[in-house]
Amino acid sequence: MIQNKIFNILIADDDENVREAMISVLESFFDVQIQEASSASLAIEKIKSNQSNDSQNKFDVILCDYDMKTDKGEEVFKYLIDNNLKTKFVLFSSYSPNELTFFKNIDLDSYNFFYIPKPFDLDLLISKLETILSSSISKSKYVQVSKDDFNNYWSQYSIDVYIQLGVDKFVKIIDTKNIEDADVIKKYIDKGINLFLLDRDQAKECVKTMINTLEIDLTKRLKSNGEITKEVAIDSIHQIHSILKIMGVSEVSLSLIDKVIDSNIKSFENVKELSQLIELFKSKGDFITSHSYLTAYLCSHLMKSFSWYNENNVKKTTAASLFQNLSLDDDELAKVEDLSKCNFEMSLKDQIIEHPRRSADMIDLNSQFNKEVADIVLNHHERPDGSGFPRSLGASQVNSIQALFNMMSHFATIVLTTEEDNNLKIIAQDLNNEYMAGSYKEVCQLFIKKYLNDEI
Ligand SMILES: [Fe+2]
Repeated sequence: MIQNKIFNILIADDDENVREAMISVLESFFDVQIQEASSASLAIEKIKSNQSNDSQNKFDVILCDYDMKTDKGEEVFKYLIDNNLKTKFVLFSSYSPNELTFFKNIDLDSYNFFYIPKPFDLDLLISKLETILSSSISKSKYVQVSKDDFNNYWSQYSIDVYIQLGVDKFVKIIDTKNIEDADVIKKYIDKGINLFLLDRDQAKECVKTMINTLEIDLTKRLKSNGEITKEVAIDSIHQIHSILKIMGVSEVSLSLIDKVIDSNIKSFENVKELSQLIELFKSKGDFITSHSYLTAYLCSHLMKSFSWYNENNVKKTTAASLFQNLSLDDDELAKVEDLSKCNFEMSLKDQIIEHPRRSADMIDLNSQFNKEVADIVLNHHERPDGSGFPRSLGASQVNSIQALFNMMSHFATIVLTTEEDNNLKIIAQDLNNEYMAGSYKEVCQLFIKKYLNDEI
């Protein structure tokens, strides 16, 4: 329960029963003052009449349905954008933002935008509202980076750096206007600080330079047949993840994303043995990056045995590998395959359940290729017995390429998270037993040939 503050909330929904249910949930679990509206236009009227002197809005959160009888929830969000209001907007709908033309064309990461699917599960709804109400880092002001990312990519730029000391307390530890102690970051790392906050506008400027450098480097290597090693490919995935999180997919040029994908595919040629590749990942690199690369490699490797092996399909699975966990920052959350065995608190569980949808929502749906990639990303945790998330799809509800991707993404997680030396054949056998159903069958049969015979 979040305390010490009364939250002002506006609920816009044309269904009175939904409004009443939401009010009863909110009043039971939070300190709230609630106003209601039965349409987007009435919601906008309420927002206008609750505007304060500094033109900011008194509502902390607006919970808004999409499809209302007389108008659409997008009108409310548009009003917030047009009037530069920072109120948190929660789309509360059976449609995901990815399915709605208005929302999918907007870089939602740049706004205080959240999504809660309808119909709601009570525990999930409460934990989501708790996360939304307590999220104090304004998405528009700071970018959060790990100490390793700071040292690898950001330390070379002139940029203001902050740390967070309390819910609403931020301290600037590097001010570009002043000359700073060169070791200030190291001192904080020594004190146990692992996350730093950067000024978002300054970070965006730095990222433009980063993009240029990465693009020039990859172009040079790809054109001159300069060697793309596994290490270069892994580093480029890591860098593109950081860049996409800050700039949003829509602002990063497609050609850069293409080059990262091409560099991955080219580096697959240098893989001699799968077990060596796994050892390399275990000794260096974070999970999300290693898992991206390994999934892409496994998909391409297995696909070679299929009649539908072609460049487009390899690119599709490689792109999906790159994007599958893009909405997660924490390696530990990305490692979860079986929700029934995970002991995280509800709000973190919620992040895990929603990450396929959030990652898919980050992809521009401006081409057929991208739409297919977004679908693979959305379904990458679905499992043959229907125990997957977020949609609990069964074994026959996914297509062949999706089946291949899901099995390889799962295989990659197991080999990267198994502590002891991998016995790849035992892992492959277990996985095979689980996946021999529906659309997954064909993939399983090839998987047996490749990994249970002597090809590992
Ligand atoms: Fe995932």
